[in-house]
Amino acid sequence: MIYLLGGSGYVGQAYQTLLMRKGLPFRNLKRAEVDYTNPAVLAAALQADHPEFLINAAGYTGKPNVDACELHKAECLFGNAVLPGVIAQACTAAGVPWGHVSSGCIFSGARPDGRGFTEQDTPNFTFRQNNCSFYSGSKALGEEVLTGAPNVFVWRLRIPFNEIEHPRNYLTKLMRYQRLLEATNSISQLEEFVAATFACWEQRVPFGTYNVTNPGQVTTHDVVDLIQASGVCRKKYEFFQSEDEFMHVAAKTPRSNCVMDSSKLASAGIRLTPVREAIAAALAHWKKAA
Ligand SMILES: NC(=O)c1ccc[n+]([C@@H]2O[C@H](COP(=O)([O-])OP(=O)(O)OC[C@H]3O[C@@H](n4cnc5c(N)ncnc54)[C@H](OP(=O)(O)O)[C@@H]3O)[C@@H](O)[C@H]2O)c1
Repeated sequence: MIYLLGGSGYVGQAYQTLLMRKGLPFRNLKRAEVDYTNPAVLAAALQADHPEFLINAAGYTGKPNVDACELHKAECLFGNAVLPGVIAQACTAAGVPWGHVSSGCIFSGARPDGRGFTEQDTPNFTFRQNNCSFYSGSKALGEEVLTGAPNVFVWRLRIPFNEIEHPRNYLTKLMRYQRLLEATNSISQLEEFVAATFACWEQRVPFGTYNVTNPGQVTTHDVVDLIQASGVCRKKYEFFQSEDEFMHVAAKTPRSNCVMDSSKLASAGIRLTPVREAIAAALAHWKKAA
């Protein structure tokens, strides 16, 4: 049996769908029922069920967006930095291998040569540089907490999107925001992300950190062009003139925009669709919310 933490969330629901589709037995733990944030409760549950693998899709993201993390710092720090340590201790003690959903938002920009950041690069959008949002800082601390932990995958998700209209879907966000910030990013198709991460376990690739983004990079303008070409939303898209204007008008805390290199995952034999192809496919099968 597989344990899923945070299975009711945006990312967690995609894991539930994947595990159901595969017909694999799993238990979706909810804090309200089994408070897995409590070390003793989690340890007892692992002892009782002894799952073969645990997926941690729990964390604090802030609603409606990361600006909320600036106001709920204790919850953010606990959900993103302390909780991974609690899970690591419990899983190590129970001998349960596991995977942690991290984020690419602990990086900003690209490497000096213009290439994407690899798993060897030190995160550069963290509390250590004192340049980040509270959310990014907390996610980077979560990775630091896991340094040296045995039998764990750290999977970096980045700006999820798919074909289903949803306030958390990047494509929906671009269609709904009044004005957009021009930026260059690597991004992750949600169902490909969960399938690729679970394949890490199924195929027993070496534990460690993996950037799980669709190969390539896109600018906001590139994505808007794809949206317009698809006919899904033909409105006139307006852009901020600069990041300064965006910060002044629309945001409370800086956003991470970054290019990631996902070739380590590909070298392990797990491949995602090139990013433009994946965006075009999502738009071609676009499903409006009811
Ligand atoms: N969505 C994104 O854009 C994105 C991008 C990159 C990385 N990630 C990471 O992916 C993970 C899941 O994100 P998500 O978008 O699925 O978030 P979500 O929709 O808010 O769901 C997160 C789930 O985590 C559980 N949880 C445990 N401790 C929590 C806390 N202190 N505050 C709030 N929820 C808590 C909750 O489940 P129960 O209460 O039912 O147990 C909740 O349903 C997070 O670690 C996030 O940092 C997300």
